[in-house]
Amino acid sequence: MFRTKEALIPYLLLVAAAAGGLLWYQTNQQPGLGRVVSTGTAQVGGPFTLTGPDGKRVSSSDFRGRYMLIYFGYSFCPDVCPTTLAVMSEALDKAGPAGRRVVPIFITIDPERDTPKVLSDYLKAFGPQFVGLTGSVDEIKAVEKLYRVYAVKEPLDNAKGMAGGYGMNHSNVLYLMGPDGKLVSYYSESISPDDLTKELRKRV
Ligand code: NI
Repeated sequence: MFRTKEALIPYLLLVAAAAGGLLWYQTNQQPGLGRVVSTGTAQVGGPFTLTGPDGKRVSSSDFRGRYMLIYFGYSFCPDVCPTTLAVMSEALDKAGPAGRRVVPIFITIDPERDTPKVLSDYLKAFGPQFVGLTGSVDEIKAVEKLYRVYAVKEPLDNAKGMAGGYGMNHSNVLYLMGPDGKLVSYYSESISPDDLTKELRKRV
């Protein structure tokens, strides 16, 4: 049930970026405001300090000198997040040496349920190189803002099979950040493993 909305947002983002070098993002604090235009892909991303596996604090500067492939999602996601993480995992393997220079980072948009342990258990299925990051609600909100991530809770009327009784509607974008921490490129979650592999070989 989240597939349609999840798929739409990166599409809008890419169209907007192609049209005028602009990125769309939606603020969730002001429901009446709708979409806000923010200029320049250079403004996407920025330094963060969050909580990693084992509860240790992890900063974006810890990865300086390596590439980061960052994806925002949540471990309870029924469909898009696990599919996207599997695509990342496959592409990083296939990209060989380039793939080994990239740290895949999964930042939760659902910090209330995604504790460090929940995240690290979840990410084991995708490979030992994945780093799961969580934090306080405010910390996660601040990082979402930096990366122009759209994420809102959606109460489930029909909560069958979904622990916790809510899902998250969220944008699905993969951010490739360079060794300097700046945005290199970004991709829709619908990118194929082969295309992502080619991108990694080309840009890393
Ligand atoms: Ni998801």
